[in-house]
Amino acid sequence: MTRLAVNIDHIATLREARKGTEPDPVAAAVLAELAGAHGITVHLRGDRRHIKERDVELLRATIKTQLNIEMAATQEMMKIAAALRPDIVTFVPERPNEVTTEGGLDAMLHGDALRSFSQILKDAGIRTSIFLDPDLDQIKAAHRLGADTVEINTLRYAAHAAPRSETPRRSDLAEEFEKIREAARMAVKFGIRVAAGHDLNYRNVGPVSAMEEVVELNIGHAIVARASLVGLERAVREMLEAMHTAF
Ligand code: PXP
Repeated sequence: MTRLAVNIDHIATLREARKGTEPDPVAAAVLAELAGAHGITVHLRGDRRHIKERDVELLRATIKTQLNIEMAATQEMMKIAAALRPDIVTFVPERPNEVTTEGGLDAMLHGDALRSFSQILKDAGIRTSIFLDPDLDQIKAAHRLGADTVEINTLRYAAHAAPRSETPRRSDLAEEFEKIREAARMAVKFGIRVAAGHDLNYRNVGPVSAMEEVVELNIGHAIVARASLVGLERAVREMLEAMHTAF
């Protein structure tokens, strides 16, 4: 069964809208776990625009499932990760004014930094993942770097699956889906664990979740958006149902 890691960044985004204390992402993490989430994911950004050190420290002490921290591969973040000891660190690219992560990391271009930071984290007993576009050369690079896990970027698949696409073309959707599948297959052949995520929602999640190579999905915005209307526990349960319903 594909595991669901709930990204709770946008609970913190709402808190930061008033620079106050509510809603608390730690409370959200507990509710997500109670509803069946298999993990909690947060992105500790350089600008701390939503999740902050206080959140990751409390999450580390509180949650019972897997804590995955997404971060840029920088010295500052490595120190924080080594001290906090999440279960897994996912390396992501970060551009200061981006609305959200814009694409996968280039594992070839950033190979040296990824290799040395992964080693520091591995020595501290922390697993590492790299967020990558579904590109076979990137998967090969992740293999050379000894990544435990890769998270395949589903953004382009999601864009083509969206009913709002101006001219939705089934062939583009099928092509993007195939790229994810081929990348996932290659990663599994290399013995790399495969996660996926970005812009997955209740309507487009089924086919990705059904891919046997993909063992875990990271989903945030769609769940938090639905939670604002129906409550977080129900939103998480409904996502688990959408993931495991034949499409
Ligand atoms: N995976 C990665 C690497 C991300 O950066 C994000 C966005 O923070 C997600 C998954 C979750 O994306 P979404 O919020 O669109 O579900």
